[in-house]
Amino acid sequence: MKLSSSPLYTASQIQERVEVLAEKLSQDYAGRETIALIVLKGALHFGSDLLRKMTVPVSIDFIRAKSYKGAASTGRVEFLVPPSLPLKGKHVVIIEDILDTGLTANAILGRVNAAKPASVAICSLFDKPKCREVDLRGDYVGIELERQFVVGYGMDYEERYRELPDVYVLEEEE
Ligand code: IMP
Repeated sequence: MKLSSSPLYTASQIQERVEVLAEKLSQDYAGRETIALIVLKGALHFGSDLLRKMTVPVSIDFIRAKSYKGAASTGRVEFLVPPSLPLKGKHVVIIEDILDTGLTANAILGRVNAAKPASVAICSLFDKPKCREVDLRGDYVGIELERQFVVGYGMDYEERYRELPDVYVLEEEE
């Protein structure tokens, strides 16, 4: 596998989208007690950039989920890092790098809902709606993609490329 010869989205194009999302969230979450739940590791850079562009106060927490994708479309999800803050009665925004099958975000949603928050929303920088295997929609989505595998800006292939500031498509080697 190799990176596309040029970025699919450059760092500055990404920041434009992040700004739009931060503006929308700042409007919608003004006056609410909000917890931004950053999904590790992929949403590390996105969460950090997004929250620094927001103009309303938010508390920050992390969750790390590992999904085991097999033949079963239910896909088991294990929580390697559970949220540390009490979510009860709070407005929770789950911050994801990318929605693919939707299984991971769905499992996180179930876990968050079990804690009885006042509300819960999903904010994802990237979305691949054509890859969805469960009925799940991002409430705040930055960029829609086709069925393609992307890396960079936090997103990895076998733990590589997360550090790249731009986003590339991962392509088959000829
Ligand atoms: P889902 O459970 O299939 O929606 O997968 C969500 C997780 O899989 C994301 O949070 C990413 O960590 C990873 N993932 C899905 N698609 C991609 C991609 O194109 N590049 C890198 N990681 C991806």
